[in-house]
Amino acid sequence: MCGIIGYTGSENAVPRLLEGLRTLEYRGYDSAGIAIFSEKNSLTGIKSKGRIENLEAKLSYFPDASVSHCGIGHTRWATHGEPSDINSHPHGTPRVYIVHNGIIENYAELKDFLISQGYTFSSQTDTEAAALMIDYCYNLTQNPADAILSAVKRFKGSYAIGAVFSSEPGKIYAIRKDNPLIAAISSDGCFIASDLPAVLKYTDNYMRIDEGELAVVEQSGIKIYSPDKTEVKRDFKKAEWDVSCATKGEYPHFMLKEIHEEPTALFQTLYPIISDGMPNFDSAGLNDTRLKKFKKIYVVACGTAMHAGLVGKFIAEKMARVPLEVEIASEFRYKNPILDKTDMVIIISQSGETADSLAALRLAKQCGAYTLGVVNVPGSSVAREADGVIYTHAGPEIAVASTKAYTVQLGIMYLFAFRLAYAHEKMDSSQLRKYTQELITSVPELIHKILDTQSECAAISKKYKNAHSAFFIGRGLDYALSSEAALKLKEISYIHSEAYAAGELKHGTLSLVCEDTPVFAFAGCADLLDKTISNLREVRARGGKVVLICQQGFQVPSDSYDDILYLPSCDQMFTIFPAATIAQLIAYYTSLELGRDIDRPRNLAKSVTVE
Ligand code: AGP
Repeated sequence: MCGIIGYTGSENAVPRLLEGLRTLEYRGYDSAGIAIFSEKNSLTGIKSKGRIENLEAKLSYFPDASVSHCGIGHTRWATHGEPSDINSHPHGTPRVYIVHNGIIENYAELKDFLISQGYTFSSQTDTEAAALMIDYCYNLTQNPADAILSAVKRFKGSYAIGAVFSSEPGKIYAIRKDNPLIAAISSDGCFIASDLPAVLKYTDNYMRIDEGELAVVEQSGIKIYSPDKTEVKRDFKKAEWDVSCATKGEYPHFMLKEIHEEPTALFQTLYPIISDGMPNFDSAGLNDTRLKKFKKIYVVACGTAMHAGLVGKFIAEKMARVPLEVEIASEFRYKNPILDKTDMVIIISQSGETADSLAALRLAKQCGAYTLGVVNVPGSSVAREADGVIYTHAGPEIAVASTKAYTVQLGIMYLFAFRLAYAHEKMDSSQLRKYTQELITSVPELIHKILDTQSECAAISKKYKNAHSAFFIGRGLDYALSSEAALKLKEISYIHSEAYAAGELKHGTLSLVCEDTPVFAFAGCADLLDKTISNLREVRARGGKVVLICQQGFQVPSDSYDDILYLPSCDQMFTIFPAATIAQLIAYYTSLELGRDIDRPRNLAKSVTVE
């Protein structure tokens, strides 16, 4: 949602703050700002609407920016108040500045109280109310830690806050509720950050700050306190990721780099879960006896992660003959779901911090269901709060549009469905080993083949880049993929795109297909091909342009499509993996043709940590 960073140490703080903010931009990029200590230990806030370059341009007017050794920074995804200089963070007073990720839901009530105490407001943000409440509490306590701990007791909502007080030069205070926060130590000082990539250039030694804990960060080190101010001893962890993960390398965009990482990411994710040639979920407390007992299984997630659940549903029900429901987390959390201890809820989340998914997890646990997190970020909230966790090992996904995370989430869902089928005796051990072997060895190769011919996707993107709208259709597994394909195109090219069951288009929506409307049709499965071909003819008869994505070797009449992209021949159960890469590449190259901000599409953020 937003990104926060802080540094205190022997080096100039501003370059480190800016480097951290550039890495955190994927969490929000409507505006950016910093608060730094001057040489005379006064606090200065500098902030600007728009990208970090705008902030950098302002710094030249602040001599302190070249000599400060301690400060905090923020990159914003606007929730309360439009993107503007005045609504940018940090917010505060000459006595205390804060940066904030999250939402203070009762900010209006706090604002009324503070105004009654003589405070005035300049911005439309909830964060300013939080900052002035901390200032108010500091006035009462004359102690930064007490001020923060008493102020947050009055907050309703979610927050990860970094704060600096003019009375405590060189010190950074940080506290969190429902939003991620880490502290890290390097050879020349210490950091706070929303997540790990922001500090990887300087250190891989970090620790997570847990719910309600207060961190006090100085050049010499980090102290963690529980809400009752008891000091908490916390060991440092070594980051699994290195700084190259958080840089584009030779790629023009993070999205393209991350698409190219898919084969390796898939292997690195699946290999640790396989033993004796079979998927093994014992580490998540899921042996066959337990798997067999679940009466109902849900996947609850948002966006791309939810779309991975749609594929998981198809595969689990086909292979294991076990019902699996897919729920949108923001709906699930308010529908009073019928759940009990005989049910299992799988929360898929790349970031592990998505507010709706986290709330759904907590609700499922309250209902007594077994909760399993499928998460890409080590130690994230979903990973720590679920009953069991299966990590995907895709490495950090920086581009807002999720690609390699989707691929590895599919891989996990396939292995889960295979083991579930084995537990229910719908698959024997030799079949289980065969499918597992194919998934971990052949499927990455299928993706490589698509990456080797991505110029064909680029040509299709060039041809259809000016479409006003686009459709993605398919049947069965291909329909499940269509939802993700449509999201990819619309979220980075801004072309309205819709997924539809191929057989359903004629029941109304076909009226939207007119001359030159591109309809991308996935046909990876032979057993539904003839039916799909009929649908393609219906589209073409109305002037629509069909881009058919089907297996090499399929007999497809030439009058049923305008363009064709081939999938490598393989078991039709696995065609979704190369087909997903094609969908991602079409979205990428269309967005490139249109000159969109591919890694930072408008209005979006990578991790949506608010409702
Ligand atoms: C997909 O490209 C988007 N980035 C978005 O739909 C994302 O998948 C969704 O917000 C869920 O995020 P999560 O996996 O981190 O929970």
